[in-house]
Amino acid sequence: MASLPLPTRRATVRLARSLAEALRPGDLVLLAGPLGAGKTFLARALCRALGVPHGVTVASPTFALVHEYRVPLGLLVHADLYRLEEGRSVAQLGLRESLAEGAIGLVEWGERFVAELGGDGLLLRLDPGPPTRVARWEPLGPRGHRLAASLGAP
Ligand SMILES: Nc1ncnc2c1ncn2[C@@H]1O[C@H](COP(=O)(O)OP(=O)(O)OP(=O)(O)O)[C@@H](O)[C@H]1O
Ligand SMILES: [Mg+2]
Repeated sequence: MASLPLPTRRATVRLARSLAEALRPGDLVLLAGPLGAGKTFLARALCRALGVPHGVTVASPTFALVHEYRVPLGLLVHADLYRLEEGRSVAQLGLRESLAEGAIGLVEWGERFVAELGGDGLLLRLDPGPPTRVARWEPLGPRGHRLAASLGAP
């Protein structure tokens, strides 16, 4: 599994920018890691790197579960599935359909629902440390492989 230390917020922003360059319509990034690991921080940096203007707030989708943004690549969907209990309700959110229609998906707490989300993407785990914050990632399918390759070797 590839990894990268994230000692500063700036390092996380750099990771987001690298990943954003590789993201294409229909791609899925699953953001994993414990509470406060930096999933929303990274998702926000990805949103900015993908073109969400600074005047548009990128908040945690804790309560709405899904926030959508228009970016040059199309639709960008940021979800937080922490509050979902079962696969049926994730199906009701329509994320899989959005991805199939070309949306880019950034999904916090989505690891439990990989199958319901289409089974392919990049699984990016954030470890808050100590001793230091680290990102680790692994591909879940061909699209995930392309994204992992774009981030380079460990
Ligand atoms: N290197 C870093 N990368 C990311 N966030 C960092 C870093 N250093 C400090 N932080 C801070 O850590 C916090 C991470 O909070 P964030 O809301 O992103 O976590 P989360 O994983 O989304 O949590 P939750 O599971 O509750 O949604 C932010 O306040 C952020 O500013
Ligand atoms: Mg969060």
